[in-house]
Amino acid sequence: MYQQKTILASVFLFLLFRFCSSTDTITLTRPLKDGDVLVSSGENFALGFFSTRNSNNRYVGIWYHKVSEQTVVWVANRDNPITNSSGILSVDQSGNLILHEADQRFVFWSTNVSGVANDVFSAQLLDSGNLVLFQRTNRQVYSWQSFDYPSNTLLPGMKFGMDRKTGLKRMITSWKSSGNPGIGEYSYAMEFVGSTQLFLYKDMTKIWRTGSWTGHGWSGVPEMTQNFIFNVTYVDNNNEVAIVYLIRNSSIFSRLVVNESGIVERLTWHEANRRWIGFWSAPKEPCDGYSHCGSFGICDPYKSGTFECDCLPGYEPQAPQDWYLRDGSKGCKRKVGMKMCKNGDGFVELARAKVPDTSTARVNMSMGLEACEEFCLRNCTCEGYAIADVREGGRGCITWYGDMIDTRTFSDGGQSLYIRVDADELAKYSSKKPKSSHKNPFLVIVMPVVAAGIFFSTCICCYIKKKNNKKKKDNRKEHEVGFSFTVDSYKSRDGSFIEKDIGENVDLHVFDLMTIVAATDNFSPSSKLGEGGFGTVHKGKLANGQEIAVKRLSQSSGQGMQEFKNEVTLIAKLQHRNLVRLFGYCFHRDEQMLIYEYLPNKGLDSFIFDQEKASLLDWNKRFQIIRGIVRGLLYLHQDSRLKIIHRDLKASNVLLDADLNPKIADFGMAKIFGGDQDEAKTRRVVGTYGYMSPEYAMEGLFSVKSDVFSFGILLLEIISGRKNNSYYLENSVNLIGHAWDLWKQDKALTLVDSTLGDSFDDREILLCIHVGILCVQESAADRPTMTDVAFMLSNSETKLPYPNQPAFIFRQLHYGTESTSASASGGVGSVYDEMITIVRAR
Ligand SMILES: *[C@@H]1O[C@H](CO)[C@@H](O)[C@H](O)[C@H]1NC(C)=O
Ligand SMILES: *[C@@H]1O[C@H](CO)[C@@H](O)[C@H](O)[C@H]1NC(C)=O
Ligand SMILES: *[C@@H]1O[C@H](CO)[C@@H](O)[C@H](O)[C@H]1NC(C)=O
Ligand SMILES: *[C@@H]1O[C@H](CO)[C@@H](O)[C@H](O)[C@H]1NC(C)=O
Ligand SMILES: *[C@@H]1O[C@H](CO)[C@@H](O)[C@H](O)[C@H]1NC(C)=O
Ligand SMILES: *[C@@H]1O[C@H](CO)[C@@H](O)[C@H](O)[C@H]1NC(C)=O
Ligand SMILES: *[C@@H]1O[C@H](CO)[C@@H](O)[C@H](O)[C@H]1NC(C)=O
Repeated sequence: MYQQKTILASVFLFLLFRFCSSTDTITLTRPLKDGDVLVSSGENFALGFFSTRNSNNRYVGIWYHKVSEQTVVWVANRDNPITNSSGILSVDQSGNLILHEADQRFVFWSTNVSGVANDVFSAQLLDSGNLVLFQRTNRQVYSWQSFDYPSNTLLPGMKFGMDRKTGLKRMITSWKSSGNPGIGEYSYAMEFVGSTQLFLYKDMTKIWRTGSWTGHGWSGVPEMTQNFIFNVTYVDNNNEVAIVYLIRNSSIFSRLVVNESGIVERLTWHEANRRWIGFWSAPKEPCDGYSHCGSFGICDPYKSGTFECDCLPGYEPQAPQDWYLRDGSKGCKRKVGMKMCKNGDGFVELARAKVPDTSTARVNMSMGLEACEEFCLRNCTCEGYAIADVREGGRGCITWYGDMIDTRTFSDGGQSLYIRVDADELAKYSSKKPKSSHKNPFLVIVMPVVAAGIFFSTCICCYIKKKNNKKKKDNRKEHEVGFSFTVDSYKSRDGSFIEKDIGENVDLHVFDLMTIVAATDNFSPSSKLGEGGFGTVHKGKLANGQEIAVKRLSQSSGQGMQEFKNEVTLIAKLQHRNLVRLFGYCFHRDEQMLIYEYLPNKGLDSFIFDQEKASLLDWNKRFQIIRGIVRGLLYLHQDSRLKIIHRDLKASNVLLDADLNPKIADFGMAKIFGGDQDEAKTRRVVGTYGYMSPEYAMEGLFSVKSDVFSFGILLLEIISGRKNNSYYLENSVNLIGHAWDLWKQDKALTLVDSTLGDSFDDREILLCIHVGILCVQESAADRPTMTDVAFMLSNSETKLPYPNQPAFIFRQLHYGTESTSASASGGVGSVYDEMITIVRAR
């Protein structure tokens, strides 16, 4: 009995051992038959025979083992299916993997390794999905691997590119159809003419291009720079040029496929939904199409009007009649009468561009931007230039000699492209600058060089600014002398071209009314996001899919077109990560509209005043938001070139981006309404009940200190999770009163929002409450400035002054002649958020 057990056990162990050792390996003696499956050690991938739907053909392939929907990532005999189940995959004596029939007569597929025969070869399926072939005595060196011969899928860890030593080019090709894994018509491959670019081909025709490698990503794939999930490595040396994607979290399955419809898509497996979800794909829009606007054309999907094609600066349509019929494929030619290559040529910058196909370009990695410009300027056939590697200020020089094909712009991302123009054209772009004279050859020739240098240093500054706010003032100085022109053209309704809005580093779209009407479904009630002190806000979607927020100013600011435009242009220059970005404007008779970036997360009010969403913001996040608001306000009050007093700061005017970073909205509105800083008293008081300082609400006096007051209220609201004016508890008039009472009794911590639990640092909260109370003091002179506030919040050791009595003005306030109320951007309780407008007779 005992013996029997031992025998059974050892048989079992033997079987188990055999099973284990053989599951991921094929050897001479252990081939893989149809019906068997190899599974990689971590069970991520499996290799075996498969058929596609509606077909009996058998293929050898690799698929995900853990993914319930069979997803084949590699196929051996793509164009040579086996018609019955007699196929065998084995390793032969010469050390090749060979797929043949049982009786050896016909070989369907094999590797082609010429090698030493006197050893035992094995093929193993690795957990990365790589099938590798090696000698038993030298397991580290693969004589062949499936990663070198991808099918239609690029897996994490696969090299995409070329081995310079062997000439092996790794690319992916689509299946013929979903039922046929044969080599299809679409391929995605790396090309090396000029600089490295990836192309999607249909047969031999280019249909999409990534643009060149900028160090961060591809010039034409702005999404790629956001790298939370991938670690992308680009290698370019004597041995190879390749790009490798790694997934930071190895339990996520992600693959890049060129599919049968000619789309390159990245998909990620969602176990909860049991399906692949699209993560990214290209080409997506007409502007992605290769050479959509022809040579010297430029595609701008965000421009107003209906046609996305335009010409580069200094060029005009080759075939105006086609152009008029919305066909840009013939491209553009030099404007008639251009005097190129005479003294005075210069460059115009095109911002946020995907640079042209580098097939007509040369790259020299040892030149910087300045040298690049000089180099291009000296050679008359050079049409333009760009920086090759934009990291850390930029390095390397790409210069174009011939057709500039497939240029487009993005609303975000891309890089700067500099286009050669003659002196007259250059003057058009610089004419708006004071003191610049195109008659002076020094200015014309040297100015662009200086401009480039300045733009360059501005970029560095912008970069550093993120780390160090103090750098901003220097940056501002450089802006004042900078000459970086940004071009944007749009087409007027009658089809003629108008150049517009050339400002330093700002490009502002002029949207026509019809575009906005279409985007917002004629300002339909369902598109309405909210209402604030200066008008209503609608959500819109442009024809190209870009989402926007349209602020429709409630009553005309009383400015003419030019004044309004100047004002908006100034405000568009205020760029800060804690301010909502202004895209452009629309002006039509009495209608004045501002077009902003759309932020899906809505206002801070919809979080802090909402029982459920409040818990999404723990104290750390709230403190971060507070500091963000401080930075934004500080920038408005003193770091920007204009001194802007917001006048309507409130929770619903602080929007949160996808990462819950605060962005102040509606800044500059006061400016547009003619409240300049010398005029510290205004007829029209625009603000929100509960946030207005006493001197502003009662006398129309406003200053940076009235914003400080609003900030104080906001700060207390963020801490308490309650609205200032919804407070009827504990015999206090409002939140300020309540906070003040608690403060005096040393019980300030009871003010804290209960949803915060005890996940906070008492000292931080007490500091914030103290600062909040200082900000809402009755007398404006007693209140700190935003600089003081920033200092106090970052130096917890400082001894803060004891606050004087805050202002409790709201119950006694008598409103003026005009008063409206409206709900803000949709948070719970926003009915309390009354907006008031008081017009005073003077
Ligand atoms: C499988 O098909 C081949 C022809 O492709 C044929 O020669 C072979 O005999 C078939 N084997 C079986 C088991 O049907
Ligand atoms: C196998 O490789 C040799 C050289 O290494 C080459 O001449 C031959 O054409 C290849 N055969 C196939 C079927 O690819
Ligand atoms: C990215 O991958 C490379 C190569 O595997 C590695 O050296 C590098 O440390 C990785 N970087 C990050 C941030 O994970
Ligand atoms: C990796 O992803 C899995 C599944 O999505 C998740 O459960 C896990 O927490 C992630 N691990 C890390 C380190 O992010
Ligand atoms: C190809 O990818 C696009 C974008 O992800 C998708 O819409 C399309 O259905 C895919 N086509 C096929 C045949 O899978
Ligand atoms: C690249 O530029 C450097 C510096 O201007 C120059 O010395 C070098 O010859 C250039 N290389 C090529 C290949 O043009
Ligand atoms: C200008 O550049 C082209 C293309 O690189 C080159 O063939 C030509 O010799 C250059 N001309 C001068 C004057 O350097």
